[in-house]
Amino acid sequence: MNNIFKFSIGIFSTLAFAWLAFVIGARNQFGDLEPTSSYLNDDKSIPEGEELFPKKLSGLAQQGAKEYVSLGCTTCHTQQVRLVEAGFDVERGWGKRPSMPRDYIFHNEVNIGNTRIGPDLANVGLRGYSDEWFHKHLYEPQTMVTESICQPSPFLYELKNDSTPSTYELNSSIGDKVSTIFIKPTNRANRIVAYLKSLKQDYELPEMAFVQTEVPEIVEKVESESENSNDSNLTTLPSWLAKQINSGKEIYMKAAPGGGLCFTCHQPNGLGLAGQFPPLAGSDWVLGDKERLIKVTMHGLMGEIEVNGVKYNNVMAPPGIPPGSLTNQQIADVLTYIRNDWGNSASSISPEEVASVRESVKDRPAMQMWTAAELELK
Ligand code: HEC
Ligand code: HEC
Repeated sequence: MNNIFKFSIGIFSTLAFAWLAFVIGARNQFGDLEPTSSYLNDDKSIPEGEELFPKKLSGLAQQGAKEYVSLGCTTCHTQQVRLVEAGFDVERGWGKRPSMPRDYIFHNEVNIGNTRIGPDLANVGLRGYSDEWFHKHLYEPQTMVTESICQPSPFLYELKNDSTPSTYELNSSIGDKVSTIFIKPTNRANRIVAYLKSLKQDYELPEMAFVQTEVPEIVEKVESESENSNDSNLTTLPSWLAKQINSGKEIYMKAAPGGGLCFTCHQPNGLGLAGQFPPLAGSDWVLGDKERLIKVTMHGLMGEIEVNGVKYNNVMAPPGIPPGSLTNQQIADVLTYIRNDWGNSASSISPEEVASVRESVKDRPAMQMWTAAELELK
């Protein structure tokens, strides 16, 4: 009897701990998220009069989310622009930025999903599809996208003999032969379409800005403004330097071979992510000794380091896609860029300087990351 008692206590506490960890833990982490403005004041308060995001979903859309689950759409569709592969997801056109927990606070059903047989739908409401497109695609995806393997849901529609304002005409091949039919959406179909149209993350959040995939117009600005002798930093940039900075920014933001992918960790705003990825803005590693900076960008960095007075202990594998593949010119450009954005202002770095550092460490294995201790010695 005694044993059964202990046994029950054991089972109870195991379940209680799991519950605490998953429910209370998650609630502590995300439970108090509220709508916010895209940018915050320096004291983290919301600027007056700013629009707040995310927006509430309509009742119809919330009902649609339930239908979506009941029809198993989550088996093939995710609704999350992923952070790790941010660049790839954004390049695929699946969103303007990675999705954040805050994006889902008004969703009664959070359909993040995990299998991507079809495209991610986190932003399907932004792709410009009309009601008609959505309904025809829902009825029979193959009429809109030939050879689509998306699941048809004809049972959500009534068939009509004639065209009326509430019907859509399509050439269906459900049945024996292709025939022209008129479909009238049921309430369920309308709910699903309202839900799909509401899926859009078209606002920035303080924790995640849009990922820029185009190169900014620094060059044009330099050239158009250089005639009037205004003494700001940009106008005094010679065009070769502006060119290097532009190409460096492209490498910083690029998530494809030849790119540096730097933004996924250090963020487009150069501020890094607290406790994980150190900032490049205002960093002595970036603004200080060039040789150390070049070495870090060539081979990576690991172990404890200090940036702007904060300690980090993480690993940066040799940057580049594939790792360690950045050429002398690419390293020179990306470093010149990070030394001259986000308020940073420091001298440029030339491919020749990179070449001479590369020569000086040519016996070092390509994948051997530096430690701070090693770099102090040099
Ligand atoms: C068997 C896997 C599968 C299931 C289940 C599935 N889909 Fe799809 N879906 C796909 C594929 C593959 C595509 C891409 C081809 C296309 O556009 O039809 C797609 C495309 C889509 C698109 C167009 C996306 C775009 O950006 O062009 C929408 C909208 C969509 N599905 C909605 C749904 C809904 C709603 C359901 C549930 C009723 C559903 N899907 C169930 C595989 C699936
Ligand atoms: C996968 C994530 C990741 C990527 C991609 C990445 N870094 Fe880092 N970076 C880190 C981490 C983590 C550290 C800190 C390492 C440590 O703690 O020892 C770091 C440190 C640095 C530092 C020194 C510390 C500082 O904040 O000034 C510089 C400079 C730097 N990275 C530049 C770059 C550049 C340039 C690129 C792109 C070519 C890049 N990083 C790509 C994760 C990354």
